[in-house]
Amino acid sequence: MSEEKLPVPMREEHIIKPSIERLTTIKPEPLFESIVGYSDVKRLFQLSLSSEKPVHILLVGPPASAKTLFMIECMRLERSYFTLGSHSTKSGMIDYLFDKRPRYLIVDEIEHMPMKDQTGLLSLMETGILAETKFQKTRNTHLKTWVFATSNATDRMLTPLLSRFVVLHFKQYSFGSFREVCAHILGREGVTPDVAAAIAEAVWTKLKSKDIRDCIKIGRLAKTKEDVEWIAQTLRAYKQ
Ligand SMILES: Nc1ncnc2c1ncn2[C@@H]1O[C@H](COP(=O)(O)OP(=O)(O)OP(=O)(O)O)[C@@H](O)[C@H]1O
Ligand SMILES: [Mg+2]
Repeated sequence: MSEEKLPVPMREEHIIKPSIERLTTIKPEPLFESIVGYSDVKRLFQLSLSSEKPVHILLVGPPASAKTLFMIECMRLERSYFTLGSHSTKSGMIDYLFDKRPRYLIVDEIEHMPMKDQTGLLSLMETGILAETKFQKTRNTHLKTWVFATSNATDRMLTPLLSRFVVLHFKQYSFGSFREVCAHILGREGVTPDVAAAIAEAVWTKLKSKDIRDCIKIGRLAKTKEDVEWIAQTLRAYKQ
């Protein structure tokens, strides 16, 4: 899985202000740098970000396939607003859209978004018109907002909402990709390459799991390959 470097717009907080002692600037990591693989998806995001008019992207896929990670990276974009589908009404997403007029609306787990909010997005995504009727009063405005979202499945989503997205279905990792992702993440956590490789192998073959989160759990518990062996055996013994 080859990596491509993509530029990220500078945000105020990324810039170390010049001082007498220090006249350097620290460049932010390129966007999506923390994500292993998916170079084609990263490129699609970049194309969407540089498009004149909004192109909305929905990531659908199994647990631990880096969907939320993509959203977290998008939060680094200037004028972005993040919300969880299940909290969109409580967090006052529509009010926020009216008040702050974000350029990027990021919705994690959009399948849990109440129908009322899903409906609100339909017009925003298609025409840029945001409208709301509350207490018999109607307000509307025009916004240029890209919507990036994730979902585990699409069956709880309105069909017209789905059709407004470029929908990318992430597949389960192959063993090769699983090993590579595991090595990268655990490497960042200070786990040695041989222990990381043993963890990927044990999770995939002994625990029959394809969930990267299982590698992270074991990576935080094990110091040696023997630890990995013992933890995997124990977890298997207590598996449902
Ligand atoms: N390709 C990857 N690159 C880097 N980290 C990854 C990758 N795939 C999975 N991970 C790691 O796995 C964990 C889960 O990732 P994430 O939260 O993005 O999954 P998800 O697809 O949103 O899952 P869910 O459907 O359960 O919400 C995170 O710790 C993340 O860092
Ligand atoms: Mg997620």
